[in-house]
Amino acid sequence: MPSVRKETLHTLSYVRPALEPGDRILDIGCGDGWVLGNLIGDGHDVMGVDIVDLRKPAVPEFAFALYDGEKVPLPDASFDVVLLTFVLHHVPNDKKAPLVAEARRLTRRTLVVLEDTPRNLIDRWACNIHGRSHRKRIGTTADFGFYPQWEWEQFFVDRGFAVRRSEALPRFSRDVIRPWARCCFVLDKL
Ligand SMILES: C[S@@+](CC[C@H](N)C(=O)[O-])C[C@H]1O[C@@H](n2cnc3c(N)ncnc32)[C@H](O)[C@@H]1O
Repeated sequence: MPSVRKETLHTLSYVRPALEPGDRILDIGCGDGWVLGNLIGDGHDVMGVDIVDLRKPAVPEFAFALYDGEKVPLPDASFDVVLLTFVLHHVPNDKKAPLVAEARRLTRRTLVVLEDTPRNLIDRWACNIHGRSHRKRIGTTADFGFYPQWEWEQFFVDRGFAVRRSEALPRFSRDVIRPWARCCFVLDKL
């Protein structure tokens, strides 16, 4: 599907510059696994975890594991880079900090986060609709916040990261029909 391919390449254009040859990568909340599959194609050693199995056939069994959404049963610093791409707004607010702490535990060097980061009323309206439909789909009343860029920056600093890159993505670069504000954060573990 062209839009899936476009979104995958868009995500990769922010992830790839943070990678070094030979990096071991963990993709938390890998979803359908298109990003993961492409990174495997690049020659990286990559593993994906998610709370549901939405994998497309391109993602091999050995590169994926279901987990409980809180604890990945692997030792500290098992990976060089951990990815959380468009995952954190699907995580209830009270579980966001524990999940970022888990990502920090698992990475040796870098955490890459892509997020919807509302900047104006229209962004907030879109996030609100997206958040409400997600809550309805999974049958919960928990609060799933979409934070603005500055709030995520502070959030990551408070959780033991230095912000190497915090960049607002061009609005129309990912999806011309849904030009919502999004950001890329490249975070170094302190
Ligand atoms: C919008 S999809 C993003 C998929 C993929 N990362 C991407 O960029 O295409 C959000 C994913 O987050 C997953 N997710 C939600 N809560 C999670 C958690 N606590 N741990 C890991 N994944 C989670 C969902 O199951 C879903 O696959």
